[in-house]
Amino acid sequence: MPRWFVTGAGGQLATALERVLEGEVFMAREAALDIRDADAVRAAVRAFTPDVVVHTAAYTDVDGAEADEATAVAVNVEGTRNVVQAVRGTHTHVVFFSTDYVFDGTKSKPYVETDATAPLNVYGRTKLAAEELVLGWPHAMVIRTAWLFSETGHNFVKTILAAAREKARAGEPLYVVDDQVGSPTCAAHLADAVDEALRLGVSPGLYHLAGSGYCSWFELAREVVAIAGIPVALEPVTTAQLGRPARRPPFSALVSERPVPRLPHWADGVAEVVDRLTALG
Ligand SMILES: NC(=O)c1ccc[n+]([C@@H]2O[C@H](COP(=O)([O-])OP(=O)(O)OC[C@H]3O[C@@H](n4cnc5c(N)ncnc54)[C@H](OP(=O)(O)O)[C@@H]3O)[C@@H](O)[C@H]2O)c1
Repeated sequence: MPRWFVTGAGGQLATALERVLEGEVFMAREAALDIRDADAVRAAVRAFTPDVVVHTAAYTDVDGAEADEATAVAVNVEGTRNVVQAVRGTHTHVVFFSTDYVFDGTKSKPYVETDATAPLNVYGRTKLAAEELVLGWPHAMVIRTAWLFSETGHNFVKTILAAAREKARAGEPLYVVDDQVGSPTCAAHLADAVDEALRLGVSPGLYHLAGSGYCSWFELAREVVAIAGIPVALEPVTTAQLGRPARRPPFSALVSERPVPRLPHWADGVAEVVDRLTALG
């Protein structure tokens, strides 16, 4: 059975992966292993002797990265360099996760792996720099995904559920951006697809893996409140009206032109996650 070393344990994707990976799985939590510490990363990886390092740990606060670029670079770029250096001289595979925010959003059709990158924000630039580091390792898969949601951690679906309930109680509308379009991705569906891709032994390289179809944040919110049955009025707003610190691509849907497993439609993932969250109360 394969041995898996997973960084970023506690994050939403790592939690979903832990449920599907079969074999010996080592979940590395930030409190025990800060990926900025090169010696500690090397020692931990070498001690476990994994077949695959699944590197999910990242500084994922897109707006926070604008104000704290040094930390975003230290975690996303230097931390990733430490992971890659830790497997040098071994046959260990590395699976790394990147983002739709490597694109500028000027395309009108979903982005494929061969499209030109042009990140608009610090987070996207750090993830793109990390992609290049990982792709320098011959046994590496870089998986670009987008708009992750699950029942754990911080994500848009959970934020909307909480905000919609509060606004419904107060009898106020909930404002949601409708001029950014992307591919919402259920973390459990992504974990299944990654597991299947690894079992099939897909070639190293760059892949897009995200929920099928695409929508705006507003449409995603509408689906969430409809499934949860929350009687709240949703009002569309523009990105400019919201005035967030980080620029975001207006259109960043992802699709793959490579032979990899396809994920279910994003709305199926929303239904599953909202059902699980409402069952939890
Ligand atoms: N979330 C999205 O919408 C999205 C979209 C596209 C791509 N991705 C990429 O997909 C991957 C997984 O995302 P996710 O949503 O699962 O992220 P997440 O829930 O924010 O989890 C990231 C994990 O990384 C850990 N971490 C942060 N700094 C660290 C450090 N210095 N050392 C070790 N661990 C550290 C965090 O620990 P703490 O919680 O203790 O800080 C957290 O457990 C990331 O690479 C992300 O860039 C995410």
